[in-house]
Amino acid sequence: MEHTELDKPETLDDLIKTLHKIFESDSVNVEEVQSIMESYESKPHEWMKYAKFDQYSSIHDHTDSHCFLKLLQGQLKETLFDWPDRKLQAGMKQKTQQVLLENQCAYINDSLGLHRVENVSHTETAVSLHLYSPPFQTCQTFDQRTGHRNSVKMTFWSKFGERTPYESSVSQENN
Ligand code: NI
Repeated sequence: MEHTELDKPETLDDLIKTLHKIFESDSVNVEEVQSIMESYESKPHEWMKYAKFDQYSSIHDHTDSHCFLKLLQGQLKETLFDWPDRKLQAGMKQKTQQVLLENQCAYINDSLGLHRVENVSHTETAVSLHLYSPPFQTCQTFDQRTGHRNSVKMTFWSKFGERTPYESSVSQENN
């Protein structure tokens, strides 16, 4: 396949357009997507209306999808775990930890393991942009102490900056 040089995205809209172009193809070049997401320099006025705040996620998988996570503001600590043994019911072992800095873009999929993402600062907010391909409707969350898993439905907190109707019966998960 021919390699085309992609322009550095100046705005969040540019970035989204470029990503749509990249994902028209059946094969995903992880390094290319990471690099294009890192080259967008975060501008708060472009993403503020989409931002919602939580301190951490639980440990979760990504349902066989690609997951790219770019830092728009602040820092996030990403902890990787191995998949727990279904029979052992033992605690989950931490593999690695990394602190993601503003504009960096991390990547994970189920073959690399599971992760938890948290803002360790009590004073600074953190904002991240997540890209999943293909989309998925459910994922699994894990109890670090026992390895026990739960299936959770993915929901939208908002769409296009507008709060979506609240569903009280559905458990939600931030990925
Ligand atoms: Ni995730």
